[in-house]
Amino acid sequence: MQCTAEPPVGIIDEASIALLIDRFYTAVRRDPILAPPFEWTIAEEEWPEHLATMRRFWSSVMLTSGRYSGNPVAVHHAVHGLERPMFDRWLALFEATAAELFASEQAALFTSKARRIASSLQLALFHRLGMPPDELSAS
Ligand code: HEM
Repeated sequence: MQCTAEPPVGIIDEASIALLIDRFYTAVRRDPILAPPFEWTIAEEEWPEHLATMRRFWSSVMLTSGRYSGNPVAVHHAVHGLERPMFDRWLALFEATAAELFASEQAALFTSKARRIASSLQLALFHRLGMPPDELSAS
């Protein structure tokens, strides 16, 4: 019987980042929890530009290419409907997409960067002076 599964991608380059981004945002737009803030913020005709920005962002993160310049904290502050619990969902979907596409070593590199960035974004967006972030308040 012929095997139709794609072989895992073992290299992180502009082409594989582009594949990951396209697949991830296709999944985001189908996700009942994540889709609304994206659909409220990004008009249909703006999606190609958003995907191009996200490719540049991940190229800067993974390949230190310097292709992205921007301010994700300021941008997310302006995203209507963005709520803290959505970050877990975002990460789960991102990790599942990376694991589907990449070999385990490369998938793990994306996952660890994504977790770190998501956690600093959450601190910047939701932390208020006098109110410790969730992960610190339990101790
Ligand atoms: C919790 C779920 C999240 C939601 C709902 C969300 C939503 C959005 C939306 C709607 C935009 C487009 C804003 C605009 O064009 O005005 C955006 C941009 C962006 N997001 Fe997110 N985001 C989330 C999490 C993340 C995470 C975890 C990362 C990074 C690991 C990330 C990285 C970015 C970047 C780099 C941009 C582009 C900023 C720019 O235009 O320079 N986002 N996000």
